[in-house]
Amino acid sequence: MSKVYKIAIIGCGGIANGKHMPSLSKLDNIEMVAFCDIVVERAEEAKAKYGNENSKVYSDYKELLQDSSIDIVHVCTPNDTHAEISIAALESDKHVMSEKPMAKTAADARRMVEAAKRTGKKLTVGYNNRFRSDSQYLKQLCEDDTFGEIYYAKAHAIRRRAVPTWGVFLDEEKQGGGPLIDIGTHALDLTLWMMDNYEPKVVLGTSYHKLSSREQAANAWGPWDPEKFTVEDSAFGMVVMKNGATIMLESSWALNTTQVSEAKCTLCGTEGGADMVNGLNINGEKHSRLYQQKIELDSGGVDFYDGATESAPDLEMRLWIDAIEHDKTPVVTAEQACVVSEILEAIYESSRTGKAIYFE
Ligand SMILES: NC(=O)c1ccc[n+]([C@@H]2O[C@H](COP(=O)([O-])OP(=O)(O)OC[C@H]3O[C@@H](n4cnc5c(N)ncnc54)[C@H](O)[C@@H]3O)[C@@H](O)[C@H]2O)c1
Repeated sequence: MSKVYKIAIIGCGGIANGKHMPSLSKLDNIEMVAFCDIVVERAEEAKAKYGNENSKVYSDYKELLQDSSIDIVHVCTPNDTHAEISIAALESDKHVMSEKPMAKTAADARRMVEAAKRTGKKLTVGYNNRFRSDSQYLKQLCEDDTFGEIYYAKAHAIRRRAVPTWGVFLDEEKQGGGPLIDIGTHALDLTLWMMDNYEPKVVLGTSYHKLSSREQAANAWGPWDPEKFTVEDSAFGMVVMKNGATIMLESSWALNTTQVSEAKCTLCGTEGGADMVNGLNINGEKHSRLYQQKIELDSGGVDFYDGATESAPDLEMRLWIDAIEHDKTPVVTAEQACVVSEILEAIYESSRTGKAIYFE
């Protein structure tokens, strides 16, 4: 019989309940044996829903990590704790999936990469947008060299009024920033992955606190408290890669625009282009004509049944456990996620100093 992996969930809030636990519960070679949250009722609730009578509940992750039977830890806590908890888990001989962004700072992200190397355990980061059908299809087109050299790209993370008002999202100290580190991180990860280019050369960035200081009733998650909104409401960056390629990154939780688009990218290459903004479209020139083609991605269905496509979170969790079981490199590597954190930090630093930030 194949091994059943014992998994612990640390942080039983929004993303643990929205993604990790429901998708893990569909796999038959895992068991959720431990749940931890500083609000212990949340860990109790998670156990009742996703655990069994032997599952344990903790309020202190350090106690949880002492259980040597646990194989894998999912870190679903606020950004400022990802590095500390992930490194401690790796050092306790566990494989780790940390939520995105990898860490609050680039230095912490690098420490996580080093810890994974030192311990020989697997470390991945929850960039679930890579597992959407359009992303998977576009990645395959990129790998088939459909677009030639991709020398210009856009990473889209624009919301009009969708400021997350729960938890600690507005708290600079705990999150390290606002929309850039929260959703810009997904768009940038997707863009770098499509380009398969992890070598930034120079970054220029700006960030704004223009709408955060006013009360805005029209927010998707209700009005925010301007006093508590200490992170930026929008941030923008230009990234020039060592091979000369340019990436424009746009992120906002609140911006006066109708052009909303999140966790998407636009790619422009020598042989063609692709745009994820209004569905997946590819374009280029063929037979002396410009063409664009919409890629419709459906699962095969019949009259009375649409067919079933595995959801992005289900695929993310299945491939993560598969990487552990078959000793493969996870789809999202720690090194890739670390470069995302380094670029985001450079955008913040450039915005603060007004200077371009050069990478070694
Ligand atoms: N992949 C995605 O698309 C996605 C979406 C949402 C959130 N996230 C990420 O997930 C993380 C959590 O976000 P969320 O929306 O679930 O927040 P949340 O506030 O809903 O949940 C976080 C939970 O962690 C608990 N917690 C805090 N510190 C802890 C500690 N030291 N030990 C144990 N528990 C602790 C909190 O009590 C809370 O229940 C963030 O890093 C966020 O960026 C990712």
